[in-house]
Amino acid sequence: MPKKNIDFKLEQIGVIKTPYQEKAPYQPMDKDGEEFSIIINPEYVDGLNDLKKFNYIYVIFYAHQITRKPEMMITPPWADGKKVGVFSSRSPIRPNPIGLSIVSIKKIIENRIYTSGLDVFDGTPLLDIKPYIKDLDDKSDANYGWIEELDDKEHLSLHIKGIPHDY
Ligand SMILES: C[S@@+](CC[C@H](N)C(=O)[O-])C[C@H]1O[C@@H](n2cnc3c(N)ncnc32)[C@H](O)[C@@H]1O
Repeated sequence: MPKKNIDFKLEQIGVIKTPYQEKAPYQPMDKDGEEFSIIINPEYVDGLNDLKKFNYIYVIFYAHQITRKPEMMITPPWADGKKVGVFSSRSPIRPNPIGLSIVSIKKIIENRIYTSGLDVFDGTPLLDIKPYIKDLDDKSDANYGWIEELDDKEHLSLHIKGIPHDY
């Protein structure tokens, strides 16, 4: 007999503040200033102890403004029409609209973490934070997967990073 899925619910543990209301970069971009921060709900503030000792964190969020039904084959907006399976993509339109962004910690003041640029809309619900740990999280044999097959990989990879360019 097929196993029944387990029912569970996740709780929002904070909110992400960014300058983006309607358009955000496809991936985090390094930015200076204090425009990007994560505010943790006060009941979780003790959980931030020792986090400052890390340079980078994973920010796990719920893409709350997604309204489109997920499709199993998608065309990433930057990939020149290529169609790929949703689980081979970083699209936020997926069965569980959860995103994962790696950013640097600039400073932590009370329950607020100031970070480098995030790729989410202002007010995005925060699900979790985890430290990015050297060696554990760097994979020296990581590759580009299907991105390698794109004709104009170098140019298109500027699009995925949201880096402004002239051509
Ligand atoms: C391509 S996703 C990548 C997110 C994350 N870095 C990842 O790889 O899982 C980034 C895009 O998600 C969309 N987005 C960001 N915050 C969102 C939100 N709260 N609700 C819906 N869409 C959101 C924006 O269009 C942004 O350009």
